[in-house]
Amino acid sequence: MSFLLRDLIERRKSREPLQYITGYQEFFGLRFRVGAGVLIPRPETELLVEKTIELGRDLGGKDLRFVDVGTGSGCIAVSVACGLAGSRGFGVDISFEALGIARQNALMNGAEDRIEFVCADLLDCFPPEPAFHFVLSNPPYVSRRGADMLPREVRDYEPDVALFSGESGLEIYRPLIRQAAPRLLSGGCLLMEVGAGQSDEVKGIAREEGLFPEAVLEDLRGIPRCLVARKR
Ligand SMILES: C[S@@+](CC[C@H](N)C(=O)[O-])C[C@H]1O[C@@H](n2cnc3c(N)ncnc32)[C@H](O)[C@@H]1O
Repeated sequence: MSFLLRDLIERRKSREPLQYITGYQEFFGLRFRVGAGVLIPRPETELLVEKTIELGRDLGGKDLRFVDVGTGSGCIAVSVACGLAGSRGFGVDISFEALGIARQNALMNGAEDRIEFVCADLLDCFPPEPAFHFVLSNPPYVSRRGADMLPREVRDYEPDVALFSGESGLEIYRPLIRQAAPRLLSGGCLLMEVGAGQSDEVKGIAREEGLFPEAVLEDLRGIPRCLVARKR
């Protein structure tokens, strides 16, 4: 057995995710580079992308502006830009490492001219004025208390900043929704992924922050996974 092959097998035996070993993951029919420093895109996140494209077409599909908060590999921003040819937007992340990979993915999928990647904390780099048809986010939502329950592939290899949101797992939602509301155009939508069992609480926060929760979409396992909240 070659040295290279033995090394790859050892990495997998240490529970390193296959996607970090191969360096790629498919998402929404597109190819994304992944590596230490970004979350591996999950199939359930395709739900958010699918719904955004549907809503974008309902809005006429042209001159649509979006922001993807916590862009990671860029899978949401790039897939939405590819699915809605008349859209342009931003991918924001607090991690420089993730933004480097997101830029490569935009380039690889031909969306680099329509997405600007910015290093920032949530939406604080944008003035609190209506500017976006869509605020999109798959934020970190795992509870620190639940860390021991995660598979080793996730706990030992995926970045903490992409996984955890305080003791409850819910801490990021209020500041994110509070910052999203004033930046949405009237009729625009916030689409956000939520963890299992979090949808009611997050829906309540959206209502308190002045948005109208329109739907909670279920993933293929029947778990409420994507909140759609509109600004009237
Ligand atoms: C669950 S990952 C999602 C990555 C990608 N959007 C996806 O769906 O696969 C969450 C991302 O949010 C970023 N993040 C965490 N806290 C943030 C903050 N306060 N502001 C901006 N980005 C943040 C992390 O670095 C990570 O890339």
